[in-house]
Amino acid sequence: MTKIDDHIQSFDNHQRDKRIKKYLNLFLALVISSSLYIAYIIRYTNASNKITQYSSGISYETYHYGLLKCEEIKRIKPDNNQIQDRRRNPRFVPGTKDILFKNARILDGIGHDFLGDILLKNGIISEITNIDENDIKKNDINVTDDTVMIDLKKKFVTPGLIDMHSHAGLLSWPFLRATNDINEETDPLTPFVRVKDALNPSDPAIRIISSGGVTTSLIIPGSGNLMGGEGHVIKMRNVSTLSVVDMGINYGIDPSEEKEWRWLKMACGENPKKVYALQDRIPTTRLGEGWLFRKKFQEARDHFKRQNDWCDSASKLSSNNNVQLDSPFPEDLQYDSLMALFRGDARLNIHCYETNDLEAIINHSLEFNFTITALHHALDAYRIPDIIKRANSQITIATFSDNWGYKKEAFQASTRSPKILADAGIPVALKSDHPVINAQHLAFEAAKAHHYGLDEKLSIASITSVPAKALGLNHRIGQISIGYDADLVVWDSHPLSLGATPLEVYIDGIPQFGTPNSVLSGKSKCSKGSSAQNEPVKEKGNERTASSVVINNIGKIFVDKDTILEPNNNSSVKDENISMIIKDGLVECIGNCAISNHNSSEMIDLNGGYVLPGIVAIGASLGLIEIDLEPSTTDGFVPIINHPDSVDQVMKAIDGLKFGGKHLDVAYKAGVLSSITSPLSFGLIKGISVAFKTGSHTVLDEESIIESETALHVQIGTLFKNAYIPSVSSQIGLLRRTLLKAVFKPTKRNIYSKVANGLVPLAAHTDSKDEIASLIRLKQLVKRHGGDLRLVIIGGAEAHLIADQISKNNVSVVLSPSRPVPSLWTAKNVLTGSPITNTTGIEILVKHKVKVAIGVDNSAWTRNLVWDAGWAVTNSKGLLDEKDAVALISWNLEEIFNLNRKKLNNQGLNKGNIANFVAYDGNPFDLHTKVKLVAGGGRKDILIDPIQD
Ligand SMILES: *[C@@H]1O[C@H](CO)[C@@H](O)[C@H](O)[C@H]1NC(C)=O
Ligand SMILES: *[C@@H]1O[C@H](CO)[C@@H](O)[C@H](O)[C@H]1NC(C)=O
Ligand SMILES: *[C@@H]1O[C@H](CO)[C@@H](O)[C@H](O)[C@H]1NC(C)=O
Ligand SMILES: *[C@@H]1O[C@H](CO)[C@@H](O)[C@H](O)[C@H]1NC(C)=O
Ligand SMILES: *[C@@H]1O[C@H](CO)[C@@H](O)[C@H](O)[C@H]1NC(C)=O
Repeated sequence: MTKIDDHIQSFDNHQRDKRIKKYLNLFLALVISSSLYIAYIIRYTNASNKITQYSSGISYETYHYGLLKCEEIKRIKPDNNQIQDRRRNPRFVPGTKDILFKNARILDGIGHDFLGDILLKNGIISEITNIDENDIKKNDINVTDDTVMIDLKKKFVTPGLIDMHSHAGLLSWPFLRATNDINEETDPLTPFVRVKDALNPSDPAIRIISSGGVTTSLIIPGSGNLMGGEGHVIKMRNVSTLSVVDMGINYGIDPSEEKEWRWLKMACGENPKKVYALQDRIPTTRLGEGWLFRKKFQEARDHFKRQNDWCDSASKLSSNNNVQLDSPFPEDLQYDSLMALFRGDARLNIHCYETNDLEAIINHSLEFNFTITALHHALDAYRIPDIIKRANSQITIATFSDNWGYKKEAFQASTRSPKILADAGIPVALKSDHPVINAQHLAFEAAKAHHYGLDEKLSIASITSVPAKALGLNHRIGQISIGYDADLVVWDSHPLSLGATPLEVYIDGIPQFGTPNSVLSGKSKCSKGSSAQNEPVKEKGNERTASSVVINNIGKIFVDKDTILEPNNNSSVKDENISMIIKDGLVECIGNCAISNHNSSEMIDLNGGYVLPGIVAIGASLGLIEIDLEPSTTDGFVPIINHPDSVDQVMKAIDGLKFGGKHLDVAYKAGVLSSITSPLSFGLIKGISVAFKTGSHTVLDEESIIESETALHVQIGTLFKNAYIPSVSSQIGLLRRTLLKAVFKPTKRNIYSKVANGLVPLAAHTDSKDEIASLIRLKQLVKRHGGDLRLVIIGGAEAHLIADQISKNNVSVVLSPSRPVPSLWTAKNVLTGSPITNTTGIEILVKHKVKVAIGVDNSAWTRNLVWDAGWAVTNSKGLLDEKDAVALISWNLEEIFNLNRKKLNNQGLNKGNIANFVAYDGNPFDLHTKVKLVAGGGRKDILIDPIQD
């Protein structure tokens, strides 16, 4: 230090203080290890005499500042793969008790599955024993007296899950303009912005996400920009300081021992060009995207070279007196993150979907010599494994399991893509893109990938060790191994089973939800049929049709709300067989059929599988939208109605239906045989919905339309305000005037009169308990004036808060989505389930005897309706049973919307009916089950072994 003091003596005291501060700051920022500090002193001491002699252009300090920078650049960073024998997690909170788990069924994230004991100590997994059940002399772990001992009784334990694509804290719940900090959309190239500067540590989503077992997330900017900025990896637990830095995974690490990674986010394809087309500036096409990427990478490359050249010259200067430097070390904050990328200190995550986008960005990486760590979303990656392997290092594909169709670049997706990529040797991570998918249910993403063919071990790895590796953190998270961070999840069932829910989540050894040990040591949830070892569903690839079939060995037939047929186990008749005969689209026999004389028909052995009535989808705009963001593929938006007299402008969805699309096909193949679809609208009066068969050919088919005036849909809330109806109060007011007018002056064919007199239901889309209450009040008012509203709430996230009133007033609720999230201000009070809440909205509604059904708001997920229903049941602690699950997605909707009013009662599962059902090769509420055949849905032919794209 004496040299520094000597040199600055000529300055006045004030200046000197400033100088010292500057140097101290410099130390803090750069002299991050003691060895580097010593190197600095030595170099400084040796070089100083020469400098004062030769460096004419730049100041003495500037020169040495540059040398420090060069030092830092050249410093060999630790290789995290070499780190062994970690004894302590820097995030350890003193006072955290040691925990010993006994008898844990350990899925360790790297492919092992064994029974063992685990000791958590100092924030790490400090010991693991593998219990051989037959071994009598158990290898006990030695613990201190105040260690918490928990006998898990073979409950499943996994590493804390890792989500490598999340926007939690950048788009906090509930969404507000004030907390939208996701895209700096003022320039397509903002590699320099940092999540660290924007993240809201108080986003309620963080706790909700951790309740699903996610313990670490890469939080990245959105995809509005080509170069979106720098991400931040956080542990999903709040810290007492509320510091974003303290939440970071790098908190407390020693960079001389552990590499301090940075993470970058970039994006290509539709999003950036859409954002900048609106601003009428480059890029408006992929042409412009490619150019901007290359231009910026070249600029950064030049900067990189200038830095290296400077350091070269500077190092020559210290040994060769003829060289002289007249410019400072080239430093420019705007290139800092790209320098980190070129120097191998930052890991690049790029959002791209289409094959050509993926190829272009890989090409840029070869041209400018940087490494891509992961391609995100990349729904087309499965089609180009060869191109992906052209990269200069192994790329991880961080993708969705079954989200698709929302835009063109997501339209060619395949549910088999994780498996195809894995088979090609490409690492696959599954991620949430929270809040696109509620990251609380990240495990479900892996479970669905497993359903569609990804191996069980790889499915677990896709949310643990694979993302850990892609983040450069596989030395401390993503697996249950000694020395790893004490981030664990204790599950109520196998994590890949339907509705699997954490009982407790440990982050840095700290239990997050205060689950009593008695619960952890208590009985496991009996998850029906969801065994762990099952093979993933195999695509047999022989999808075919038949006009007649005989179905044999049926486990259960859910005929209607009063009838379930199943083999009578008590009966003295051995091997009683439940079967069905379907001939030319009609149910010829059901129950105990004489099947021998039907040799001509294909015989389907269901092996105990279930038969359900055709599933009904509501909420997904099936038949009106093919690709959400492509107007030519949608019906478009109906005129906005602002006046009670504008009844002529109430549009009917039936007039816009288009059949044969991919969404309808996907739904049909999943046994979703009817849809209730309402017109698309930004206004209060959405229009008149149609109920139709998803497999139909045109509206002219005899069987295609179930009910052309199913309900009048209205939508309440901020999204539907406009200059004429600028408030929720004006929305309710307009509805009141409209309905009262219809009561006082009824006109037979007027839709408002039909609604006001209960002939057609009023389906109101809202989540808010207060808006629901206002609608109930309106219903009461109409009744007092002699009318009668059949009120149905669609959405209903907060409906449980007034379940008693909903019940008393005979209002039905279509919960849509079935696992709501507090994403809107008007849906703040949802119950997100265990381990945060001990009940859910649907359970409260059912307890109050409200007529409930389940809707689906994302058309990608109509095929998941049976799982949504099964999820509600498996987590209801016995409140709901299998029959209730079927009701939620079939006959409850038929009752709520009175779909049998046309006496189309000849559809279904009774003898003589037009067949309209789905048969599974097992219990449909088990994720290992597959649709075996689909009958009806507007088609005469029966589809056997359908393949989900
Ligand atoms: C357990 O710890 C005690 C005290 O440190 C020691 O005496 C004993 O040998 C240990 N037992 C085992 C099995 O390591
Ligand atoms: C973290 O959040 C939970 C729930 O909001 C709260 O109970 C707890 O006190 C918080 N912990 C810290 C350290 O702030
Ligand atoms: C991709 O990049 C490589 C390496 O720079 C180059 O040789 C090749 O021509 C490029 N291909 C395309 C299609 O741009
Ligand atoms: C590309 O980058 C790697 C790693 O940083 C380096 O070893 C290699 O020499 C570079 N290649 C070229 C052509 O610059
Ligand atoms: C569920 O939680 C609420 C509020 O914490 C509590 O009042 C209620 O007793 C709990 N119910 C059960 C069944 O544990």
